[in-house]
Amino acid sequence: MAEAWEIQIRVAPLKLNKDKTKVKSMAKAADEFTVTPWEVSGNVDYQKLIKQFGTEPLTDDILNRIKKHTKELHFMLRRKVFFSHRDLKWLLDEYEKKNKFFLYTGRGPSGPVHIGHMLPWMLTKWLQDKFDAELWFQFTDDEKFLFRKKQDAQLEDYQKISYENALDVIAVGFDPKKTHFLINSLPEHAGLMHDEAIKIADRITASTVKASFGFEDSYSIGQFFITAIQAVPAILPSVLAGKNIPCLIPLGVDQDPHFRVARDVYPKLGFYKPAILHSKFMTGLLADGKMSASVPQSTIYTTDTPKEVEEKIRKHAFSGGRNSLEEHRRLGGNPDIDVCYQWLQAFFEPDDKKLLKIYNDYKSGRMLTSELKEYTIEKINAFLKEHQKKRELAKKQLNKFIFKP
Ligand code: TRP
Repeated sequence: MAEAWEIQIRVAPLKLNKDKTKVKSMAKAADEFTVTPWEVSGNVDYQKLIKQFGTEPLTDDILNRIKKHTKELHFMLRRKVFFSHRDLKWLLDEYEKKNKFFLYTGRGPSGPVHIGHMLPWMLTKWLQDKFDAELWFQFTDDEKFLFRKKQDAQLEDYQKISYENALDVIAVGFDPKKTHFLINSLPEHAGLMHDEAIKIADRITASTVKASFGFEDSYSIGQFFITAIQAVPAILPSVLAGKNIPCLIPLGVDQDPHFRVARDVYPKLGFYKPAILHSKFMTGLLADGKMSASVPQSTIYTTDTPKEVEEKIRKHAFSGGRNSLEEHRRLGGNPDIDVCYQWLQAFFEPDDKKLLKIYNDYKSGRMLTSELKEYTIEKINAFLKEHQKKRELAKKQLNKFIFKP
């Protein structure tokens, strides 16, 4: 089958102002959306995205194959929060031939971590446990510097954010013996990755990058180079081991374009193409697109206090409820557009029975919006309480996670 790559994908070009901040997206028609590593906007139709990106849907067949090895399925898989993949069948074939894979994912440290960022990491942790897999985790502080919105921000600022964000990653519970952090600007890590990055960059033309990401000639050559750096950890363990090791990359689907470009290159350098598992985005509280760290009211940060969570949910969480209590009781609410319900489904309520009961109760009008919100607030705050404890403890563990070449 032709790679999507060859069929020109239609992603709206990303426009940046001179100061490299995003130009506000033009008002979009209801069915228009944009998904690139630097812009997600509009109402994302994930089935269309599978076609546009040329990925494969995560079918029940393939989920059952995973289940054979893991005994149970993580709720994010059962509920298709992860909805699409590349080459997962190949990865499982290899696994069944005792050719174990490693995991790779990453974080662009642009600011504080919110729960939307954590979604792929939660599944990655589960995969590490179930498949006893090594994890390589890249912090792209260089990328966030090159794409910064504040022109006066320094590279060092993003290095600092990397270390802050690393605490959130550790708090997810990854195994320190099997998890290796790569921080792009750290000299030992930069040195390690540079040789592979230039070999990859050597095979990617400027016109490919322009067509894939909508870059123009005014973009810096640093911005053009970023895909090559992000591609490296998918082969680095193979380089270090001196033999090819399969790789699985769980990621938010906005990051797929980097690997769509890089997957054409890996075999040319003698490596496997990594398999990829794509997650949907967590809806923002305001229900108009994904959660965004630059719109604080749309977001719950991992460091929010219980009071802040209460306020944000009560005041801002877009609701599928009716205008009056009487109407809600009579006609019922709409869980499918309700942000609290979406969050319970994607993240905070792993129990299928409880989730179904909430769905039915809300839809029938037995459950009120205020009750759904209180339930969600409790769930989020219980999660954050644990997370914040582990995040504090992570400060002492950080050194164990940083890869020592
Ligand atoms: N560029 C990603 C971001 O901005 C970070 C990242 C680096 C990443 N390597 C990755 C994400 C691999 C997913 C998979 O968040």
